[in-house]
Amino acid sequence: MLKPATIRVDNETTSERITRQATALSNRLRVVGEIAFPPSAMKTLRHFTSGEVAQIVGVSDGYLRQLSLDGLGPTPELGTAGRRSYSLKQINELREYLAQARPKEAVKFWPRRRAGEKLQVITVANFKGGSAKTTTSLYLAQGLALQGYRVLAIDLDPQASLSAMFGYQPEFDIASNATLYGAIRYDDERVDMRSVIRNTYFDGIDLVPGNLELMEFEHETPRAMGKRSGPEDLFFRRVASVIEQVEGDYDVVVIDCPPQLGFLTMGALNAATGMLVTIHPQMVDVASMSQFLLMTADLVSVIEEAGAQLNYDFMKFVVTRHDPRDVPEQEIIGLLRDLFGDDVLGAAAWKSTAIANAGLTKQSLFELSKGAVGRSVYDRAMESVNAVNGEVIALMAEVWER
Ligand SMILES: Nc1ncnc2c1ncn2[C@@H]1O[C@H](COP(=O)(O)OP(=O)(O)OP(=O)(O)O)[C@@H](O)[C@H]1O
Ligand SMILES: [Mg+2]
Repeated sequence: MLKPATIRVDNETTSERITRQATALSNRLRVVGEIAFPPSAMKTLRHFTSGEVAQIVGVSDGYLRQLSLDGLGPTPELGTAGRRSYSLKQINELREYLAQARPKEAVKFWPRRRAGEKLQVITVANFKGGSAKTTTSLYLAQGLALQGYRVLAIDLDPQASLSAMFGYQPEFDIASNATLYGAIRYDDERVDMRSVIRNTYFDGIDLVPGNLELMEFEHETPRAMGKRSGPEDLFFRRVASVIEQVEGDYDVVVIDCPPQLGFLTMGALNAATGMLVTIHPQMVDVASMSQFLLMTADLVSVIEEAGAQLNYDFMKFVVTRHDPRDVPEQEIIGLLRDLFGDDVLGAAAWKSTAIANAGLTKQSLFELSKGAVGRSVYDRAMESVNAVNGEVIALMAEVWER
């Protein structure tokens, strides 16, 4: 039995003490985690009511009912009082059906990229911790999947919060060589990109999980830089080149970056076709942004000097965790818009206890039903999340010239 982390153990070295604290914390989290949410193998996505499906897909509820009465499209599950509900897989079947039945609106119902439309790689970054990178990545990935896109989510953060949201406990569930590190490492233990990609319970999203082993890339890159030559070995190309290997399977890749500007983030900056920089609109956070931008410019110039060009289709600031009643926050957003104009997304993700609480049980609002958090709270939070996602989808559509 381990001693409680608060009690000092005699003759303990500092490293032993920290290890003991880490172990105590991790054991406790494991217990709490198992109570709060089932292990990933058991995580399932709820069904969506026909009202929700009508809204998500963009048809009327009455039309959906008629389809199901006529036996067209997927057969929804019938609940009490004849309520119809659909799994996400069925929503996608419905999309496919509608695209065929209403060919003029095919792109709207079945928005996957067509021949000639390039894969979009959206990197979510900021070295400021807690600026809602992971939350933004998660809601974007899920929002895109609900809209019918095929999404690859990459957790590039050794803290692995994104993987945790998908039900993985990074320390227990992710074996070695099962993160992106496995696919981009320099030695001959490197594995195929496909072997680090997993399906998730959220239809349409595949995940490359993260855990601490990603740190190895930060340690090994300086060593490898000394030895190698040839463009395929350039460290900042490695993330992009493994994504290229699976390009045909996806419409969008969403990369959740760690809160630092290391070699992994540099790889993600290089792989990106679009960048989202998350900002929590508080003075301390905005103050560090100028540093973030300068350091990012430095990293990008290293890449440029090596002969690569980063021509992002878009690079936008996304205001996150915004409390619209907070006057200083409004002023900061005003300042950002004044400085950066259209480079700041028009919509902001509002601060919501529903989002924070759902996060505690490793869920997103998409996974909860309205009843679970109160309709108005739910609707308000979803509205702001959907508005942010909607703008990103519009940017993607522009790239695809739709
Ligand atoms: N819109 C929101 N409303 C309320 N809470 C939020 C919102 N967005 C994020 N949070 C909460 O803020 C915290 C930090 O968010 P998140 O983990 O997404 O930030 P991050 O930038 O990924 O952090 P890190 O730098 O550590 O990776 C989390 O507890 C999350 O649940
Ligand atoms: Mg994060």
